[in-house]
Amino acid sequence: MRHEIASVHCAATPLAFRRAAATDIPALLLIEAVSFPTDRMTARNFRYAVTQAKGACMVAVQDGRVVGYGQIAVHARTPNGRLSSFAVHPDNRRSGVARALLRALEDEAAALGCGAVRLEVRRDNTAALALYLRSGYVQFGQYPDYYEDGMTALRLEKRLQKQPKGARTSCFDIG
Ligand SMILES: CC(C)(COP(=O)(O)OP(=O)(O)OC[C@H]1O[C@@H](n2cnc3c(N)ncnc32)[C@H](O)[C@@H]1OP(=O)(O)O)[C@@H](O)C(=O)NCCC(=O)NCCS
Repeated sequence: MRHEIASVHCAATPLAFRRAAATDIPALLLIEAVSFPTDRMTARNFRYAVTQAKGACMVAVQDGRVVGYGQIAVHARTPNGRLSSFAVHPDNRRSGVARALLRALEDEAAALGCGAVRLEVRRDNTAALALYLRSGYVQFGQYPDYYEDGMTALRLEKRLQKQPKGARTSCFDIG
């Protein structure tokens, strides 16, 4: 079943992944506020992502707390999913949360029929860029002057293994 909780063991306590719900929105807004100085998702954006958008908005939960989230948007016009937003709470960084959450999102995207995930990342976002490159993404383009402050966005892509619709891996280890 695609909405079940998947879990992994992190260095500290187990980490679980599930689809985000409307009740998660306050936690998502908090993570957004402490993660991005500009170009933030609003409550309205999150409500749409959680209740209506095609694709997957997922949260990582540790000790009963939402510690990270990511959204992959899927459009009928293209076979690619787009990672449109992704962040981990600062208190929970550098412990493998993002790497594992990204894999869970890719798994969801593949199960939804996506052949690839694409994303844009600020050229100066060294942490996110390192995460994506280590996770198998490759740069295929860029958008100059993409963000509110004029920073260039690098366009990255990762090809996904085709999965039969409805299939997904429910459990995996960080690594
Ligand atoms: C980018 C971000 C999601 C990484 O989250 P995280 O949970 O700390 O990442 P992980 O612990 O899973 O790290 C996975 C890999 O990413 C890279 N990485 C993560 N943080 C890094 C940092 N501060 N500096 C350099 N590389 C980093 C490393 O390669 C790391 O692997 P390693 O620990 O084996 O070296 C997090 O820093 C964040 O939320 N930043 C603010 C929001 C943001 O920039 N989102 C992305 C928008 S495109």
